[in-house]
Amino acid sequence: MYTRKVKIYAGFERFWHWTQAVLIIFLALSGFEVHGVYTLFGYEKAVMWHDYAAWAFLVLIIFAIFWHITTGAWRQYIPTTRFIKAQLDYYLFGIFRNAPHPTKKTTLSKLNPLQRLTYFGLKILVIPVQVISGFLYLYYHQTEQVGLHFASLSGLAMLHTFGAFVLVAFIFMHIYLATTGTTWISNIKAMISGWEEVELSMDEVRAEAYPKVVRASEMGYYFLDRDGYIRDVNAAWLRIYGYSSPEEVIGRHSSMTRKPEDAPALREMLEQVLAGQKIESRIVERVGRDGRPGRHLLTAHPVYISDKIVGMAGFIVDESKNIEQEAER
Ligand code: HEM
Repeated sequence: MYTRKVKIYAGFERFWHWTQAVLIIFLALSGFEVHGVYTLFGYEKAVMWHDYAAWAFLVLIIFAIFWHITTGAWRQYIPTTRFIKAQLDYYLFGIFRNAPHPTKKTTLSKLNPLQRLTYFGLKILVIPVQVISGFLYLYYHQTEQVGLHFASLSGLAMLHTFGAFVLVAFIFMHIYLATTGTTWISNIKAMISGWEEVELSMDEVRAEAYPKVVRASEMGYYFLDRDGYIRDVNAAWLRIYGYSSPEEVIGRHSSMTRKPEDAPALREMLEQVLAGQKIESRIVERVGRDGRPGRHLLTAHPVYISDKIVGMAGFIVDESKNIEQEAER
């Protein structure tokens, strides 16, 4: 299994998450004391602290709304039905068999479909109901004075208490699910540091490995555009040709790498490759820097970008040494 560290949560998101967690837990603790479930701060203090925390929560919500709109992060929560069955299957069965997670986290899409749905419900329904019922509760008498009769005080209190139960249930579920990442602590660590180790598919490993191998390879690598201009070469190519920096060749025409009489053969090969053929191996004579002659084995492949051939690329292996050795024998 290959993994990579990926930045999942921005600084604000982490600050928002933990502040929200502390505030909701504190609101629940003080709220259920007001409700008469237990004595913790003392009734009067509980009422006072619940009111302070409620204001802090409102300020946090305003900042969070602003942040979500300005960064486009609100899109995270758009519910999707894709993979929802796979995700449910995972939580009900797969998780107990150590099956792989059905969806992948990225900075742009860090919530799985069930999370999207749950958080969407929470943000659009439970939290607004809780905040609105809370403030109506707080200013019940004032709203009555201006002639607004929303609901009876006991109705509001019931709605608010019901919302509190939903939020507490959410917290328990949320803490359990938070421990079901790659390791029990990995999701939690990610919400603290912002970074997470995510699994890579073989395609991603390949996309990461190939360019590095090509860059460091002893085989020369080249890429010509459709008109035969050199667009990219690696260090080994420069060495084989005797150049010291890519600037000396990039943007120049590939005909400079051949004797004038060999230039048509190169053009012909480019035409073949642009027509979709590949050249598996061919020995060619090159003209290096300052006219230095040499021979190498060459491969050539069409380069596709979105189904269109944009040029020719391949590898070269120096043959001059072998030829010199043969001549010595
Ligand atoms: C901005 C958000 C909120 C506001 C404005 C608010 C406001 C209030 C008010 C005015 C009361 C009556 C007692 C008092 O004056 O303190 C109350 C009670 C209560 N609050 Fe909140 N609250 C908010 C959020 C929450 C949250 C997030 C929870 C739980 C997770 C919660 C749980 C409770 C409970 C259980 C009661 C007792 C209800 C009763 O027995 O009547 N509140 N809240």
